Amino acid sequence: MQALSSQTFERIAALMYGAIGLSFNESKKPLISSRLAPRIQRLGLGGFEDYAALLESPDDGGEFQVAVDLLPTNETYFFREPAHFELIEQTLGRERPRRLSVWSAAASFGDEAYSTAMLLSDLAQQGRIGEDWSILGTDISDRVLRSASTAIYPEDRLRAVTPERLRRHCLRGEGESAGLVQIQPRLRERVRFGQLNLCADLDAPLPGAPFDIVFLRNVLIYFDPPTKRAVVDRVLTQLRPEGLFFIGTAEGRVPCDTPLKSLAPGAFRKVAPGP
Ligand SMILES: C[S@@+](CC[C@H](N)C(=O)[O-])C[C@H]1O[C@@H](n2cnc3c(N)ncnc32)[C@H](O)[C@@H]1O
Repeated sequence: MQALSSQTFERIAALMYGAIGLSFNESKKPLISSRLAPRIQRLGLGGFEDYAALLESPDDGGEFQVAVDLLPTNETYFFREPAHFELIEQTLGRERPRRLSVWSAAASFGDEAYSTAMLLSDLAQQGRIGEDWSILGTDISDRVLRSASTAIYPEDRLRAVTPERLRRHCLRGEGESAGLVQIQPRLRERVRFGQLNLCADLDAPLPGAPFDIVFLRNVLIYFDPPTKRAVVDRVLTQLRPEGLFFIGTAEGRVPCDTPLKSLAPGAFRKVAPGP
């Protein structure tokens, strides 16, 4: 297959930017090329130009969603950035809410949502929060959401989960499923997943909104500055005043118009409007 030309790379990058806000600069050309080449071969297309034309055509047969499933980075794991979970535990231990609603806004395979479910389940069992808690996980990718709904993971992704939590909240696979774990049904029933594009309108309240806690971690890095700001302000409309907001610790300062109080790296509280 012919190498991905700069011109075709720009066509594909412009499509992704327009639809889901992902900003790929020229340095990402090898990544785009390596992720799309096997797909182009499987479809029996002539090359990247044909594939760009297919993505641009109104009758793409669902191929745009396939590209959206292939191009963004979905890396995630349980209890990533543990300081955030410690902060949630301390805050909730102090505030002792009777009900709690959480949104994992770029949920990927669901690791963040189920990590939170383990924490909330433990806090509820200790009587430090009420029993009425739920979690919504959303992502742009169908593929990761389908996987998240099965709640099946390679053991390695739960490397930061304590043995005691693993015992309490996970079922270990045997035989052909050795090396895999599945989250217990009583946690799974508290977590719902749905498709949501952070770059599209978010005017109506999501199920569970206004949320007490919103995670928007490790997705802003893929957006350019104007998109980042718009996404953060849009997402924050779904968080209640005084609610907790998390971005990835490597994502720097959070650029937005909504007033936030900084609590720790990547951790904020939404400031309540004055009297
Ligand atoms: C690196 S993962 C982050 C997962 C998790 N939040 C964490 O910190 O481990 C980024 C996720 O953002 C999703 N994503 C990228 N653009 C998006 C958009 N416009 N709307 C919703 N999700 C998006 C990707 O599909 C991917 O699953």
